[in-house]
Amino acid sequence: MKHVIGIDLGTSAVKVLLVNQHGNVVQEVSKPFRLIHEQVGYSEQDPQDWVNQTVAALSDLLANFTGDPDSIEGISFSGQMHGLVLLDENNEVLRNAILWNDTRTTKQCEYIYDVVGEEKLLNITKNPALEGFTLPKILWVKEHEPEIFAKTKAFVLPKDYLRFQLTNELHMEYSDAAGTLLLDVANQEWSTTICDLFDIDMSICPPLVESHAKVGNITSNLASATGLSVNTSVFAGGADNACGAIGSGILEEGKTLCSIGTSGVVLSYEASEDKDFQGQVHYFNHAAPNAFYTMGVTLSAGHSLSWFKDTFAADETFEQLVDNVQSVPIGSNGLLYTPYLVGERTPHADASIRASFIGMDSSHTRDDFVRSVLEGITFSLNESIEIFRQKGKKIDTIISTGGGTKNDDWLQIQADIFNATIVKLKSEQGPGIGAAMLAAYGSGWFSSLKECAEEFLQIDKEFKPIAAHVERYKALYQIYQDVYKHTKSLNERLVNFR
Ligand code: XUL
Repeated sequence: MKHVIGIDLGTSAVKVLLVNQHGNVVQEVSKPFRLIHEQVGYSEQDPQDWVNQTVAALSDLLANFTGDPDSIEGISFSGQMHGLVLLDENNEVLRNAILWNDTRTTKQCEYIYDVVGEEKLLNITKNPALEGFTLPKILWVKEHEPEIFAKTKAFVLPKDYLRFQLTNELHMEYSDAAGTLLLDVANQEWSTTICDLFDIDMSICPPLVESHAKVGNITSNLASATGLSVNTSVFAGGADNACGAIGSGILEEGKTLCSIGTSGVVLSYEASEDKDFQGQVHYFNHAAPNAFYTMGVTLSAGHSLSWFKDTFAADETFEQLVDNVQSVPIGSNGLLYTPYLVGERTPHADASIRASFIGMDSSHTRDDFVRSVLEGITFSLNESIEIFRQKGKKIDTIISTGGGTKNDDWLQIQADIFNATIVKLKSEQGPGIGAAMLAAYGSGWFSSLKECAEEFLQIDKEFKPIAAHVERYKALYQIYQDVYKHTKSLNERLVNFR
């Protein structure tokens, strides 16, 4: 039996999946790493931690693998997006990586608009200037750490650095490059215009490749450290959201994904680069060849629930926490939650806004709070779905993945709030399986990613919207949308107290 490995480099851990020719996950190893928060709004990681933990995970996996390491034909990657890794002339890391959820760069985003202009930026990069993206981070380093910027010979994204350590080859692929604000998304090339405007030497932008492109083989050092074979091919991989889309079969027009991790995304396949969403949602290159996707992001989706659990129910499991959700009626007895724990992206790109519980009553119990958190996260994701629908997209079926599928009541809440059929997949492994599929396709097992998806992915359950619930939620959603308007200026005034 032949195998591939999908490596999912997330924000809190790396997950390594060994997958066979039928798409079955034969083994799975996960290793955590730390986040470094030196100041409020800062979020960094040491790239060496990614490498050490991936090597440890691969070693564990190979130690338990009874087959021939040569049967592992390919490896590919899914990576947390946007994180800035700066390398010197010897490809040594110059500072900690600045991550996607780091919000120190509001000033740099304003500067980008001043220099490029909003319309031109949208024309070239198809995206707005957001704190999380890579160019603002480069400009921050240029301004605050000029001695480091002067030594910079290349910048890469998290999984590109990991791949470099496995192969000694430095590349970036389109789906992740799309989140840098330096890529001309439609023409799939680095933008000379943007680089020139910010005096960024184009030579720091690595060569671009397709996600399923073979970029090298496992080095002999890495092979001895992990037990992998030097004959295993390494394929470029994709951004986590693009790989999540592949791993959920979002490979043709009409397919939409709702993925709830730390952040939550609603993502829709686009066959072309020419739709105009006016920057309301992200518009990125897919990791499937010559395709695109649009995406709205709720920054604190799963994070809202884990924050609530850690703060108010630390001794319980998630299953216990959400166990009684069904006993609470729609609308959580008048309690409404907005999930802006770390600011928001879609539809309000706002780093100052913070979360609210509105309508607390002395009769409320903890179960009301838990249901309102689930409803608030889902309302926020629905705001992205509304943008897609307003632009004429038909969204009647949504594949749900991640934390949002762990509880059937929450899946029904999604069906009722989104007013769409929610599909849960059988073996749902998110971005890691998408990475494995890129390796399988790159290795020539299938003639297309779609053919691979037909072999690898199966439906488990479907949840249909219930008309009476849909109506009730529509009314509540109107109130939910008003909470942002009413809490925006309050939160701006609270900034000085944080
Ligand atoms: C996407 C984004 C997040 C990260 C999480 O724009 O910032 O989804 O990719 O890893």
